[in-house]
Amino acid sequence: MTSHAAAHSPRLHVACIMDGNGRWAKRRGLPRTAGHTAGEEALAAVVRAAAQRNVGWLTVFGFSTENWVRPPSEIRHILGLHRKLFGRIDELNANNVRVNWIGRPFDEPGARTPSSVQKAIVQAIDDTKHNTGMVLTVAFDYGSRAEIARAARRASAASIPAITAELYDSALPPVDVLIRTSGESRISNFLLWQSARARVYFTDCSWPDFGATQLDEALALVASPTA
Ligand code: IPE
Ligand code: IPE
Ligand code: MG
Repeated sequence: MTSHAAAHSPRLHVACIMDGNGRWAKRRGLPRTAGHTAGEEALAAVVRAAAQRNVGWLTVFGFSTENWVRPPSEIRHILGLHRKLFGRIDELNANNVRVNWIGRPFDEPGARTPSSVQKAIVQAIDDTKHNTGMVLTVAFDYGSRAEIARAARRASAASIPAITAELYDSALPPVDVLIRTSGESRISNFLLWQSARARVYFTDCSWPDFGATQLDEALALVASPTA
C-alpha cells in the first residue's frame, strides 16, 4: 500500500513571484524593458520545464494591482509581453498546458486589464481548454487582499471552505512551493490565502536567469519525506 501510494506522487502547485527584471537589465546597461523581454523568455522556458516535471499547477505573478504606478512606457511594454505570452498557443498545446487567469474581474469597478489583454487572455484560455496537463495560471491585475476581501463578501458563510469557494479561481489547489527571485524576501500581496502552508524558496537569481536548475532546487523543498 505504501509503495503503491509513493508511485503516485502528487502533482504540485508551484507559484512564482517573478522579480528582478529591471535590475537584471540595469546590470547589463540595458533599458528595463529589455529585462521584461528576457523575463518573458525565461517564463516560457520555466513553463516547458515545469510541464515536464511533477508540477500540476504553475501560477505566476505577471502584473500586480500595485504595478499600475509604473511609467506608461514600461507598462505598455509589459502589456505587449503578456499578449506575446498568451499568444504562444502552439508551444502551450505541444506541452499540453492549459492557460488560466486570476485577477480583478474585468467588469469590476477599479479593474484595469486593458481590452487587448482581456482578448488575449480569453483567446488563450479557449485555445488551450482541451489540454489535460499542467495548468498555467497568470495573475494579471491581481492583488491577494482584494481577492480575499471580495471572497469574504460573497461567501455564504464565514468559514474557510465558503471563502475559498469564492476566490478568483476556487479550483486552484493550495500552493506547495512559493518562489521569489532576485533576493527580495517579500510576499508582495500574492496568493496569501492559497499559500498558507507553502514552502517558500527565495533565491538571489534574477527572474531572467531563472531556469530548470533553480526550479529543481525549489522542488527539492517538497521532495523530502518530512512534512
Ligand atoms: C518583475 O521585475 C516584473 C514585474 C513586476 C512586472 P521588476 O520590474 O520588478 O524588476 P526590479 O525589481 O525593478 O529589478
Ligand atoms: C511583485 O513584484 C509583482 C510581480 C512580480 C508582478 P514587484 O517588484 O512589483 O514587488 P514589490 O512591490 O517590489 O514587492
Ligand atoms: Mg521588482
